[in-house]
Amino acid sequence: AKPAVFVARRIFPEVIEKLSAQLDVSHNQADERLSPDELIARVQGKQGVFTTGSERIDARLLAACPGLRICANMAVGYNNFDVPAMTAAGVLATNAPDVLTETTADGGFALLMAAARRVTEGEHYLRAGRWQRWSYDMLVGQDVHGATLGIFGMGRIGQAIARRGALGFGMKVLYHNRTRLPADEEAAVRAEYVAKDVLLRRADHVMVVLPLTPQTRHYVGAAELALMKPSATLVNIGRGGVVDDAALARALREGRIAAAGLDVFEGEPQVHPELLACSNVALTPHIASASLPTRLAMAHLAADNLIGYLLHGQAQTPINPEVMA
Ligand code: GLV
Ligand code: GLV
Repeated sequence: AKPAVFVARRIFPEVIEKLSAQLDVSHNQADERLSPDELIARVQGKQGVFTTGSERIDARLLAACPGLRICANMAVGYNNFDVPAMTAAGVLATNAPDVLTETTADGGFALLMAAARRVTEGEHYLRAGRWQRWSYDMLVGQDVHGATLGIFGMGRIGQAIARRGALGFGMKVLYHNRTRLPADEEAAVRAEYVAKDVLLRRADHVMVVLPLTPQTRHYVGAAELALMKPSATLVNIGRGGVVDDAALARALREGRIAAAGLDVFEGEPQVHPELLACSNVALTPHIASASLPTRLAMAHLAADNLIGYLLHGQAQTPINPEVMA
């Protein structure tokens, strides 16, 4: 019999077709909201599951689904996976890196420019009929070109943002990361490694590209915001929870920083009501990777990981490769 997989969310029909050619597929094509118990019920008896970043794979699910061998996430981030529990259960975890790097860096830059140059704020102003006449200080913002960009999280996406800043916008690029890049990689992206507090003090624009882990929760909170320049902008395209959204809303309201651009939120799809009440914040609904070619490539990569592992014992982008051995 073909190995059985469950696709937990609605996904491109062509990807369902590709999976169905080799696997026994059941799918949540109606995109119903599945409770943890419903997810368990749908995964039971399956060898694989296609997840999208919103389904939690934890010890309880793993214990209830002993036949499960692989969970393929259609996202680069995988804070929805309890990886140690998966490894202990002998379940392979895969994510979808690389194919989304440049698109997500574009998304980060879109938010940076929207926030610094007050693009979405200007659109709201215009649509509300408030644009009556020219004024020298109407919606004046901060420059992006030539400014100092500080990046928290220098993985592939952080490096793609650094290249855009340095090469495209003539920016001075600072970064801070758990581990410093090798000298040649640092030179390739023209970025200078600095301590966290130095980055916060010196940057005109701060871009957060960190995954959510116990170590990065509220990595940018009230204390960090207090170190930033009053003219600075903060962009978060990493994960909700890396920035303390309540502290950010307070800083924006009190003018302690100039603006923010946010694609990810604590508790999304809920957004902190005080952020919604701030005009100096550009908000997008977790779409930094959402170009059509990239979303398709992410879905194909997740599908290839399922097929490759269940039929041939090989996956392209394992998170816990020790399980494959
Ligand atoms: C999106 O947030 C992803 O992790 O791919
Ligand atoms: C992941 O960490 C990435 O930046 O691609």
